[in-house]
Formats: sequence, C-alpha cells, structure tokens
Amino acid sequence: GGFAAVVVAAGSGTRLGHGMPKALVPLGGRPLLAHALEGVRAAGVAGRTVVTVPAGDTELSALARACGAEPVEGGATRAESVRRALAVLAGERPAGVLVHDAARCLTPPAVLRAVADRVRAGARAVVPVVPVVDTVRRVDDDGRSLGTVDRSALRAVQTPQGFDAALLRAVHAAAEAAGTDPAAITDDASLVEAHAPGTPVETVPGHEHAFKVTRPLDLLLAQALLEQARD
Ligand code: C5P
Repeated sequence: GGFAAVVVAAGSGTRLGHGMPKALVPLGGRPLLAHALEGVRAAGVAGRTVVTVPAGDTELSALARACGAEPVEGGATRAESVRRALAVLAGERPAGVLVHDAARCLTPPAVLRAVADRVRAGARAVVPVVPVVDTVRRVDDDGRSLGTVDRSALRAVQTPQGFDAALLRAVHAAAEAAGTDPAAITDDASLVEAHAPGTPVETVPGHEHAFKVTRPLDLLLAQALLEQARD
C-alpha cells in the first residue's frame, strides 16, 4: 500500500489568542489548515489523509472534505487525536503513516517527501530535525541553574514524522496500556524509544519554514513568508 497522512488540527489555539481553533486562523486569506493540506497534496505522498478537528467543529471538517481529506473528531490532547485518526485507518494496511501538525502549515513539500522516502527505504521511524539556535540551560524545579547543555548535540524536532504503520499503532497502544499521561506525549517518535526500545528513530534535515505556528509572533512570520513567496 501507499502512505496515509494524519494531520492533527484539533488544537484550541489558546496561545495564539484569536478566539478560534488555531487551524481556522486566517493566513493570507485562507485558514491555516488549507495551507497545511495544500502542502500534503503538493508532496504527493499520501493516498488517504485523515484530519483531526476540534469537537463540535463543522468549518474545519468541511474544509478538510473540500481538500479531499477525511475529518475525524480529535481528542483532548494531541496524542489522543492521533489515536482517533489511527482508528479511522484501522482497516487499512498502509506502507507507512506520516503524522503532521497542521500548525506547521508552511512545511515545504520536500520535507514530507524526504520523510516518506526514508520510510519507504526501510526506516521504521523518521523525524525531521533542525539545529537549536539558542544556548540551552537546564534548571531545577525552582528555576535554579544546573548548567549549560551542549547545544551542538541537540536538535529541535519537527513534523511530519514518518512511521511503519504497525509500529506507530503498537507504541500508541503500549503508551495507553502503560497509563502514560497523554498530555505529556508531545510527539509520536518519543513513544518509539519508550515502548519499542532498540528501534532506531532516524533523522532527516527539517526546514526553518516548518516551524509550528504557536504564538502571535509565529503568525506574523508566516504572513511575511507568504507575502515574500508572492513577490
Ligand atoms: O498544542 P500543540 O502546538 O503541541 O499542537 C500541535 C498540533 O497538534 C497542532 O496542529 C494541534 O492542532 C494538534 N492538536 C490536536 N488535538 C489536540 C491538541 C493539539 O490535534 N487535542
């Protein structure tokens, strides 16, 4: 089989402060989700795309369908949203699954293709990564400094993350069975080290345009990038 894509878009967008679900926030006249799904389509890697939408939503569901994707109601956390999307794909045996944040709406299609290519070549878990630009310091619970971490050994992790479909299902099921707090699961690849030890998580170069639109400043940056692309 081909690839399936899971685009998680059920976040509330509280930190963005627009008073609407983040995936609906307009960017250059179109909702964030439209940009994200356009990127997935342009990459040409996914046969089926499942989109998690906030409970009670109708607008994002309609948009997903108009883009040829299948909406499903998301959960209270990102991890629970991913599980609901995987349940929709339960009858399928895709070669691989790409899990992508809708909030990384300007991710270049080449990044999606690079992740999918690596899975097709046999990798069971693949993440796009970028260098960390800030100096990073570890602190204790009271905020007291414990020292600087060697930045050269650190990478920030983006999406899409690519997986062997059976592995992704298995590690989510294992995390659920272990009673792991879903709110503490910030991405899918971290479940591989936790529940499939010995399975390597491979990295490919990410891209600075694949940043996650989280705070108001991120939206300004995304707007500027879109305007630049129009020139
Ligand atoms: O909250 P955070 O920025 O980590 O969210 C990352 C992605 O996960 C976003 O695209 C968001 O829409 C999605 N998400 C979701 N369901 C939730 C929370 C977040 O699909 N309950």
